[in-house]
Amino acid sequence: MDKFMIDGGKRLYGSVRVQSAKNSVLPLFAASVLTDQPVTIRETPLISDAACMAQILRELGAEVRFHGSDVTIDSSNACSHEISSALTKELRSSVFMLGSLLTRFHRALIAYPGGCDIGLRPIDLHLNALKRLGVSISERDGFILCRCEKLRGAEIVLDFPSVGATENILLASVKAEGTTVLQGAAKEPEIVDLQNFLNAMGAKIVGAGTDVIRIEGVKELRGVSYRPIKDRIEAGTFLIACAVCGGEVEVVGAKAENMGMLLHKLRENGCKIHTKNDKIRIESHGRLKCNRRIETMPFPGFPTDLQAQATALNAVCEGGALIVENLFETRFKYVPELQKMGADIEVKGRHAFVRGVPRLHAASVSAGDLRGGAALVLAALGAEGTSEVLDLSHIDRGYADLQGKLKQLGAEVRRVRV
Ligand code: UD1
Repeated sequence: MDKFMIDGGKRLYGSVRVQSAKNSVLPLFAASVLTDQPVTIRETPLISDAACMAQILRELGAEVRFHGSDVTIDSSNACSHEISSALTKELRSSVFMLGSLLTRFHRALIAYPGGCDIGLRPIDLHLNALKRLGVSISERDGFILCRCEKLRGAEIVLDFPSVGATENILLASVKAEGTTVLQGAAKEPEIVDLQNFLNAMGAKIVGAGTDVIRIEGVKELRGVSYRPIKDRIEAGTFLIACAVCGGEVEVVGAKAENMGMLLHKLRENGCKIHTKNDKIRIESHGRLKCNRRIETMPFPGFPTDLQAQATALNAVCEGGALIVENLFETRFKYVPELQKMGADIEVKGRHAFVRGVPRLHAASVSAGDLRGGAALVLAALGAEGTSEVLDLSHIDRGYADLQGKLKQLGAEVRRVRV
């Protein structure tokens, strides 16, 4: 297993290009089996979650070919509706396959999905919505079997705007008989991207990006070549890296309108932010101030996927911050690792109380999950001395060539085989 060796204390300067959004690409992979014509997803980031999704599709009988970063999926020979537990345990996004397998085969058998260990992550909202569409569901020995004669459009109300449940409903209703009206939908930009992708295949969906999505079932979907939106979480990670280290960085490809709350919080810290077209430029000079309060919320609130990185930043700002995690119960597991580096943070349930210290010091720390791992990398970049960040497999799930991009900005990061 690889580790990063990071010599902290270098200011960051330069420009970095953002990868396509992990959280767009994964549901698009799932959507590709909705047609038996070839689908190309362009500029796919080389992250292990995408490789795992490709493996799931191959297991179903689809042909998945990478040409550089473009991926072509031909599922004309797909014949299986079963996903083995080894793959679903590896990747939470395997749950999207429920919606697309039901549309394609009217049945799906998958093991309970895995993913980052950041909380309970139930899938009751997914399953209840599928039932509304006419699916019968049985659960046994950790497997979920979904079956239907046909999918029927329905009125669905989500108790909570779950991103994954919203996406699964789109995938399950796109070819259903009649119209589905979803209320209480998640509004994340990646859902708009899924709508655009499906509409490019011939679907009739309106309303993504708002609380109400209307899906008129269509008979057929066709192949498509599609470039997903850029990754606002990767973009945010680089902006916060610059805030931690000081310097001036331009993030290319990021849409400021999808990152309003983060940019607001970075300005509150004392960073200068300029946005123009698809570029966001950050300047960070001198000691920054803590955010008084950051509270994670569904979009357009502060993203839970940037909570850990923002906590790492506040750990070295002046003053105190309260970080509230509303989405996932155990998303502060990285905090003891930050404490090894001298961070002064107290966690009580969903609250983390941060007292900023002037500087963190080097330590050997382990990445326990994807975004928590990114936070440790940022902390190490700003710390005094040489840190090691172990267990990069979690970071590889969502960041393609993180060390290469950070080096391009002047950071001292080496990837070492352990
Ligand atoms: C997606 C993102 C993830 C991000 C999260 C929240 C992908 C591949 N992953 O995850 O990076 O952190 O959105 O923005 O897009 N819940 C239930 N029952 C359900 C489903 C969800 O109670 O059936 C709860 C979850 O436990 C959590 C909250 O709803 O507390 C939000 O989860 P959800 O929006 O579904 O997140 P994911 O789709 O898993």
